[in-house]
Amino acid sequence: MDEFKAKTAVVTGGASGIGRGISHALAEAGAHVVVADVDADGAEKACDELRSKGARALAVRTDVTSPESVANLVAAACAEFDNVDIVCNNAGVYLGGPMRDVTLDDWRFVLSVNLDGLFLVGQAFAALLRKQARGGHIVNTASVGAFLPAPTGLAYAASKYGALAYSESLRIDLAPEGIGVSTLCPGPIRTNLSDSEKLRSEDQHAGGSSKVLWDMISEGWDPLEIGPVVLEGIRNNAPYIFTHDFSETVGERFDSIMTAFGHVR
Ligand SMILES: NC(=O)c1ccc[n+]([C@@H]2O[C@H](COP(=O)([O-])OP(=O)(O)OC[C@H]3O[C@@H](n4cnc5c(N)ncnc54)[C@H](O)[C@@H]3O)[C@@H](O)[C@H]2O)c1
Repeated sequence: MDEFKAKTAVVTGGASGIGRGISHALAEAGAHVVVADVDADGAEKACDELRSKGARALAVRTDVTSPESVANLVAAACAEFDNVDIVCNNAGVYLGGPMRDVTLDDWRFVLSVNLDGLFLVGQAFAALLRKQARGGHIVNTASVGAFLPAPTGLAYAASKYGALAYSESLRIDLAPEGIGVSTLCPGPIRTNLSDSEKLRSEDQHAGGSSKVLWDMISEGWDPLEIGPVVLEGIRNNAPYIFTHDFSETVGERFDSIMTAFGHVR
């Protein structure tokens, strides 16, 4: 896809951080944007910003972990705009802390948003793009952490490895239909992800915390910087969109995998 003018994009997690950054770049390129977020006020505020740039924007309160809420998002986007062309499947949460402290509630909280949510949104919009039969592009936000083990962010790492598997598989599945799929693998971006524990319900047994992330992202990119990088990835139908060069560390992991293959008889 090389033209964004008058195309419609849906961005989950669009009220904040990376999703907001992508939404701004899409709006500046002439796209209409549907901002889908569990934070309804934040989504409205993000849409006001996009409208002030001259874009058409629609806020839809969406919980990506709920099939009904995702179905409502699809319906709302289709009711407002004739077609959907771009889907940025981006909503996510983080919890970190020592591996031994991770609880089942931690695990379920992170995987429900980062993996169940990715699946629900991906399946719903892949079906819509197929039905429309006019191509399109899906960007799934994983992380550079999708390639790196992280005992201090266990559930998050598991969710992002899973997101990578989902996204790579979807790319192969949708290629014959002319629908592109990219996996966005950001390095540190200075967002509100370190506050995501506030989205947990109070009855959960918390072992980990999202606050520990701040030290890792506080010196990262401004989230508005990532938008143009994502648009470039969509234009090129890039399989992976990276923001930071972690090739040495990721290379060490792949080297150890290839070495292990060398022991196969
Ligand atoms: N910030 C980084 O350094 C970094 C690095 C790699 C990957 N990521 C990924 O980028 C994505 C965006 O995160 P961010 O850093 O911009 O954080 P952020 O907290 O600023 O934005 C995430 C948004 O997702 C929304 N959200 C959370 N749960 C939701 C749900 N159930 N339904 C709908 N919306 C929900 C939040 O309300 C928030 O607006 C996430 O998938 C994250 O894992 C972030």
